[in-house]
Amino acid sequence: MTRIDFKALRWLLPYFAATPGLWIAAALATVVSSFTDPMLPALMKQLLDRGFDTSGFAIWTVPAAVLTLFAVRGTAGFLADLALARITQDGLLTMRRDMFARLLDARFGLFREQNATSLSNTVVYEVQNGATMLTNAVIAFLKDALTAIALLGYLIYLNWKLTLIVFVIVPGVAFIMRTLSKRLYKLARSTQTSVNDLAYVVEENVLAVRVVRLHGAQEAQMQRFTGLSAILRRLSLKSAAASAAITPLTHMLAAAALSAVICIALWQSQGNSGLTVGGFAAFISALLMLIAPIKKLSEAASPIARGLAAVQRGIDLIEGTPAETQGSHDPGRARGLIELTDVSVVYAEDNAPALDRVSLCIEPGQIVALVGPSGSGKTTLANLLPRFVLPTSGVVNMDGHDIADWKLDALRRQFALVSQDVVMFNDTLANNIAMGRPLDPQRLADCVEAANLQDLVAGLPQGLNTVTGHNATALSGGQRQRLAIARALYKDAPVLILDEATSALDTASERLVQQALQRLMAGRTTLIIAHRLSTIEHADRVVVLDHGRIAESGGHRELLERGGLYAKLHALQFGGT
Ligand SMILES: Nc1ncnc2c1ncn2[C@@H]1O[C@H](COP(=O)(O)OP(=O)(O)OP(=O)(O)O)[C@@H](O)[C@H]1O
Ligand SMILES: [Mg+2]
Repeated sequence: MTRIDFKALRWLLPYFAATPGLWIAAALATVVSSFTDPMLPALMKQLLDRGFDTSGFAIWTVPAAVLTLFAVRGTAGFLADLALARITQDGLLTMRRDMFARLLDARFGLFREQNATSLSNTVVYEVQNGATMLTNAVIAFLKDALTAIALLGYLIYLNWKLTLIVFVIVPGVAFIMRTLSKRLYKLARSTQTSVNDLAYVVEENVLAVRVVRLHGAQEAQMQRFTGLSAILRRLSLKSAAASAAITPLTHMLAAAALSAVICIALWQSQGNSGLTVGGFAAFISALLMLIAPIKKLSEAASPIARGLAAVQRGIDLIEGTPAETQGSHDPGRARGLIELTDVSVVYAEDNAPALDRVSLCIEPGQIVALVGPSGSGKTTLANLLPRFVLPTSGVVNMDGHDIADWKLDALRRQFALVSQDVVMFNDTLANNIAMGRPLDPQRLADCVEAANLQDLVAGLPQGLNTVTGHNATALSGGQRQRLAIARALYKDAPVLILDEATSALDTASERLVQQALQRLMAGRTTLIIAHRLSTIEHADRVVVLDHGRIAESGGHRELLERGGLYAKLHALQFGGT
């Protein structure tokens, strides 16, 4: 028998054994269709032993019996397949939902460890292939095992001594199966990894098509693709060889057993053992019919091994990925008091900390600007607040409660974020702005206006109901950014995080958005990150980060007069004025 990972099977059980009735139906139908198998040789035995003497029965009964036999067998087979498809698809639906649910609540580390291609492959294809292979293999296994038992029973009934020969086949087949299935399982896992690698290269090249062409990097990309394809080819050939070896090896064993049977039967018949011609013919037919299920039983190792390997990735995703941790604090709308105490963030062990013992207090309604050289930790600090990044040490409090104690959706309800990279869904503009919240036309119109998008929307034939397309790439960078601002406005959260929110705006629209933002910021705690210092002059306080530490903080004028890092940055941008 094949090496079966029982832990994985136990894990799969709740998904694929949720409706035991279906399994019973499938099994019953399978039993019926399996037990019709020995009836054909039995019928033949009757005919042959009577020497085609039809005096005992009407001729029409023979075709009627054959047709009935196949009708019963066909109906049972059909029902078994149907029940099986239900089992597979029902289980798959639940499993896919669970995987997607895990994607939605997984800790962020998952997205650093696995790329989008491999995750989507797991959720969409691998589990489907694996589950289909597995359930089919299980039922086929049952069917072939039952057929084999039925035929074997008939053989024993006909001539038990001769049947002993058959038992030579079984351990031989078992040995072949065990050896080859181990190899197949390993190959299947490596194949999946290579398929993902290959798909990743394709996806990357689709995303980076302009960069690749501009730099003439086609040759290098082709080499990369060819290299990975060649690995895939090698693995596929290896597993094809392993699969293909099973059949001839099994056949050789069966042929040896068959030869032995014929020899012994001929020898027995000389000694007048009472073996009739019909009996011998029926024995040989049943024996030949036995080869098919035994061969299929031996091949069941391959789909089971491959199916388990595929499903294993789904199991790893659901079981092996911890969800984000959260508490239960949910006070409704927060006031927006944010306190960081000695917060450090270290992304990778041997890297310098991205934030180094930062302490900062932002009062409700305050507008705090975060400035500093590239890589100084501004985005990291902003990402701490909605817990996209967890502090390595130190505490972040919101309204006096550690954000780790907050319920995640309650915490995240408090923030609207416009970040450096704008992500849009392939949906209507309105849905992209509302992001799952109820659509309120008046509020939508206000937000569109405040984000200075009214001209864009007016120019579109379907207005806000226009579908943006893949990541809204049909929009300009500035339009996308304004859309993200509209989205943040619509959320109407007490805390606003603007990470380079206005970087893609021209000076004219920036002015308009600035005014809108300023109106919006009234009464809200706001964290603005900006390289262009002109955009943060109205901030209550400026915090300057350098190498993950707070270098200085204070009012715009105050910092200019102090002549520190902020004054230097300012001088660089404004030519010393
Ligand atoms: N996911 C990550 N994994 C590892 N290191 C990271 C990660 N994100 C940021 N870093 C590192 O942390 C440091 C701070 O990055 P951060 O994005 O916070 O800088 P920033 O101040 O926002 O820079 P910029 O002005 O260019 O946006 C950088 O040295 C960066 O390389
Ligand atoms: Mg940044």
